[in-house]
Amino acid sequence: MTTLHRSFAAAAVAAAVVFGPAAIEAADPRVPAPGQAEVQWKLGEPPMPADNASTPQRVALGKALFFDPRLSGNGASSCATCHNPSLGWSDGQKTAVGFNGAVLGRATPTIVNAAYNTQFMWDGRKKSLEDQALGPMQAPDEMNADFAKVLALLNTLPGYKAQFAAAYPGEPVGEETLAKALAAFERTVVSRDSPFDRWLAGDTRALTPQQHRGFQVFADPARGNCAACHNGPNLTDNGFHNIGLAGTGTPDLGRFNIRKVAAMKGAFKTPTLRDIELTAPYFHDGSAATLREVVDHYVRGGDDRGNVSADMRPLKLSEQEKDDLVAFMRALTGPRVAIDLPILPQ
Ligand code: HEC
Ligand code: HEC
Repeated sequence: MTTLHRSFAAAAVAAAVVFGPAAIEAADPRVPAPGQAEVQWKLGEPPMPADNASTPQRVALGKALFFDPRLSGNGASSCATCHNPSLGWSDGQKTAVGFNGAVLGRATPTIVNAAYNTQFMWDGRKKSLEDQALGPMQAPDEMNADFAKVLALLNTLPGYKAQFAAAYPGEPVGEETLAKALAAFERTVVSRDSPFDRWLAGDTRALTPQQHRGFQVFADPARGNCAACHNGPNLTDNGFHNIGLAGTGTPDLGRFNIRKVAAMKGAFKTPTLRDIELTAPYFHDGSAATLREVVDHYVRGGDDRGNVSADMRPLKLSEQEKDDLVAFMRALTGPRVAIDLPILPQ
């Protein structure tokens, strides 16, 4: 055993100690007890709706649609323009750039691991991937498509007609099958083989000692308190919180637009942190350029504390702990898979 390997083994022993009942109450659902880490955090297969089970034909059709600019009003943008696989299925912009260069009010979220979520959009106004899929095509500031024209085109091209028939036999080429196919493809965009996943699966060397310390800061309510909201297998509670971004609530009220209770003013959905290092800048307004800036935001307890969540209190973290947190978040990146662009059906 090399010295390096010994230090990783020592880190694994430390894991057992820190997560022991003496250190943290095992009953706390946020913190895994020894041997139970996989129960709290491990990602299984993404759930699948009964009426849209995954088949290779559905996924192939959805992929073609996702990358097809003919679904937009001017033939110039597709879903992948904003959800770009080379940019962590986001766009690298502070906030999205839409139809004819219009700058939108919110950042493009990644679609990585959206399959595991139960709330969609920053304000949770959509409840499933199927429900979400038709919105952007018709939104004037996104793809600005005339939906009747899109459906007419899909019904004209023999290539698409054949693919729809193979994917959804007996069903018309229509809104419903279009939405289902897009959702079926999106459910294949999954990150669950990161160093963190391999560590949860028992590979004690998968996390560096620093990343491992970062997880402890992340999960510890008395230090990072991140897992108060970023918990469970996809590192989100699928809940909505005001985290004190400067100017939240003015003008974007977030969840309050959907649920008119005071606590929801300026509250936004807790995003997954999977592949997070690939999707800078961060937050719904793109106001944090780096993961370190995100951590600094939390250490300050946010900037606009007017309606902030009770779980947002200023943190006392050493420089080392801040660096460790960033290192942990980098351990959430899965292997990068090259995406073959689909040949668009004619
Ligand atoms: C102009 C850029 C743009 C285009 C084009 C676009 N999106 Fe989006 N997408 C966004 C933005 C911005 C949001 C968040 C909007 C909000 O929350 O109000 C979003 C949200 C989503 C979400 C929700 C993710 C989550 O975690 O809540 C999904 C899924 C999604 N888009 C899929 C698609 C699909 C499918 C298409 C093509 C039919 C598409 N998008 C086209 C910018 C875009
Ligand atoms: C009170 C709940 C809560 C706590 C505690 C919390 N977060 Fe968040 N986190 C959120 C919400 C909600 C957002 C999205 C906020 C927005 O953009 O308006 C977010 C966004 C993020 C983002 C940006 C994600 C993206 O795709 O833009 C990162 C990174 C992040 N949090 C990391 C952390 C870390 C690290 C900690 C601990 C130091 C932490 N969070 C603590 C709820 C929380």
